[in-house]
Amino acid sequence: MKTTQPKESKGTYIPHKAAAEFKPTKDWTIEEAASLYDDRIFTFEVDRIHFEDCIKGMSELPSECIDMLIADPPFGLNFGGMEPLYNRDSNFVAEGYKDVQLENYSSFTEKWISEIPRLLKDDAGVWIFSGWTNLVDILNSLKDNNLKLINHIIWKYQFGVFTRKKFVTSHYHVLFAVRNEKNYFFNKIEHYPEDVWNFKREYERGVKKNATKLPIDLVLRCVDFGSKPGDVIIDPFMGNGTTAIAAKGSFRHYIGFEINNALEDIINKGLNKTELGQHYIPYSERPDDLVLKARRKFKS
Ligand SMILES: C[S@@+](CC[C@H](N)C(=O)[O-])C[C@H]1O[C@@H](n2cnc3c(N)ncnc32)[C@H](O)[C@@H]1O
Repeated sequence: MKTTQPKESKGTYIPHKAAAEFKPTKDWTIEEAASLYDDRIFTFEVDRIHFEDCIKGMSELPSECIDMLIADPPFGLNFGGMEPLYNRDSNFVAEGYKDVQLENYSSFTEKWISEIPRLLKDDAGVWIFSGWTNLVDILNSLKDNNLKLINHIIWKYQFGVFTRKKFVTSHYHVLFAVRNEKNYFFNKIEHYPEDVWNFKREYERGVKKNATKLPIDLVLRCVDFGSKPGDVIIDPFMGNGTTAIAAKGSFRHYIGFEINNALEDIINKGLNKTELGQHYIPYSERPDDLVLKARRKFKS
């Protein structure tokens, strides 16, 4: 009797095939990214940090001028930035860290978040960093201002503090929210991007800096997934200028605010050390381990 082999249907699942064939949604060569950066024309000044209150500063920007927002607001823990708890030499911490009193945190949060929707382009996204203590205020303000939460990412890190009667906090929240959930920009540059991220805090000994610097690789990850070369990224709380450095290094423009003048030199030093586009590698040239493993399997 003649037997027939079942035909492989179009939808047959072949383990790891999708990973082997993965391509980023959008990609640009270095030359394309550089020309997108050069070709953008603006009606307001970009690549500039204003040393003033962000609530006032944002209210003076034109409507729908921003492609992406990254914000790492003050903690509201009455944190002065010099606390020995944070295990660092206060001689190298810049003065004037501006925190917000806990009792004012929710009204402060509402004020700066309510400036955002008017500034965003239709497909823009916002990426906000928060500890767990005041997270509820940020979530409430996002909702009240019609910004829709797409992902609630956990940044897992080692902090090096000790506690006696509670667990050691070793995570931070990164909220990804958008203006229009039917039309937001997201460049899927990895095959299987999960919502728990591991990044170590950076400890540069002997370098003066703001008390709460984010790791550059963490901010670059937000820039890569959430924006295109030539885009404008706003950061209302520049601190050490990490967002500006990540933007310049990725062929993106930036604009930002920082209330503490003492940080101007630190920010300028960081920006002067950063070459335009120095962090940018076309996304198809950075396959992750999963994709590399799958490609090896299919080659053999
Ligand atoms: C958590 S830090 C940001 C750190 C930054 N992401 C970095 O990597 O260096 C918050 C910053 O917001 C600044 N700040 C506080 N209130 C502000 C306001 N109303 N407008 C602008 N900046 C403000 C503080 O001086 C501080 O530098």
